[in-house]
Amino acid sequence: MKATLARTQDAADQSDTGAGVARLHTERPARIASVRKDDGGPDLGRSLEIQEEARAFDSRIEERLEAGFIPDLRRAVRCEYFYKSFWRDPQFIRLYLGPVVEAFLELVGRHVGPAARILDVGCGAGYMTLELARAGHHVTAIDIASSCIRTAKEALASNPYHDGFGSISYEVASFEEMTGTYDVLLFSGCLHHLPDAEASVRKALPLLREGGVLLCWEPCHEEWRVDDAAQVALIRGMLATAGLWYETPESLEIGTPADLWRFIGDVHEEYVHERDKSEPGGQSPHDNESSGREILSALRSHLDELEYRPMTSFIYRLMGGMRGPEETVRRMADFLADYDRLGIEKGFLRPNNFIFIGRKRT
Ligand SMILES: C[S@@+](CC[C@H](N)C(=O)[O-])C[C@H]1O[C@@H](n2cnc3c(N)ncnc32)[C@H](O)[C@@H]1O
Repeated sequence: MKATLARTQDAADQSDTGAGVARLHTERPARIASVRKDDGGPDLGRSLEIQEEARAFDSRIEERLEAGFIPDLRRAVRCEYFYKSFWRDPQFIRLYLGPVVEAFLELVGRHVGPAARILDVGCGAGYMTLELARAGHHVTAIDIASSCIRTAKEALASNPYHDGFGSISYEVASFEEMTGTYDVLLFSGCLHHLPDAEASVRKALPLLREGGVLLCWEPCHEEWRVDDAAQVALIRGMLATAGLWYETPESLEIGTPADLWRFIGDVHEEYVHERDKSEPGGQSPHDNESSGREILSALRSHLDELEYRPMTSFIYRLMGGMRGPEETVRRMADFLADYDRLGIEKGFLRPNNFIFIGRKRT
């Protein structure tokens, strides 16, 4: 019998500091134009697509909060609601998101400077926003999902880390309606939800001051190949056989080479389309509207590339699926994160997500 999976799955990040660009804008961000709704109000003036997308992220965050999820990387707790995602345990969160946060801070520090004025587009529940502000940056963070913004405001209100804190202003708003100018425009996992990467990058340019940078962390699932899937299938199969995986060997139904080939194909599909048998609808209606290639091509045609970094390959859908003695799971998670990192560095694994930073052309 197939294992029944009760919960939804998460999807789900050199020169000296700012040479020639350290001058930070002093102009305040313009107010957000057009109709904006506050928590719970009607979505007047929003397209149906945006309303559907917002609803998906609203119900997702509400379900997670109910399960005890804390949207703060420093205050995260173990949350068994996540059956396979890295969100299941603070150690997995550190292993997966830690390098993304470090890269954001390092890249903004190097290419912009301290106390940057950042527009965080599609901030979700604000855990990346918090880390940027904790590093002294001034962040305007927007999202179309009002429950996400309410949650982010609550996390901000109870933030115990005040040393060197910059500032955060949260707004329920869509990228499409934004005005104003910023030193940095950040898309942390939002650009691939927008239908036209090229149009979105063109829309982003006027939001950047002269010399400003666009920073993004986005998926490139289409880079993932069958040999990446085979490595994940091998790990999952062995963990299941040892009783260290959330699915039993029986539920994986691998009795013959043909079954094994089907299993590898299922893993490939899962990573490329971000959905498995228990999450046929995926994260949201507009997840993966733009592919990694479309995003990179748009970024490279409109910005001067400063840096491109392939990030991780598979750990985000693997660490959280491990079960067994705590110490064993911890050591396996560390090992898998090292393996994933080495695989990207040496080229025996394809990246599933990347960071790009580019400067607005003058
Ligand atoms: C995958 S989540 C990323 C959340 C967060 N930035 C992170 O790093 O985890 C994508 C977010 O983009 C938001 N979003 C989607 N379309 C948007 C739009 N047109 N304008 C603003 N936010 C949008 C969604 O509501 C969602 O919270």
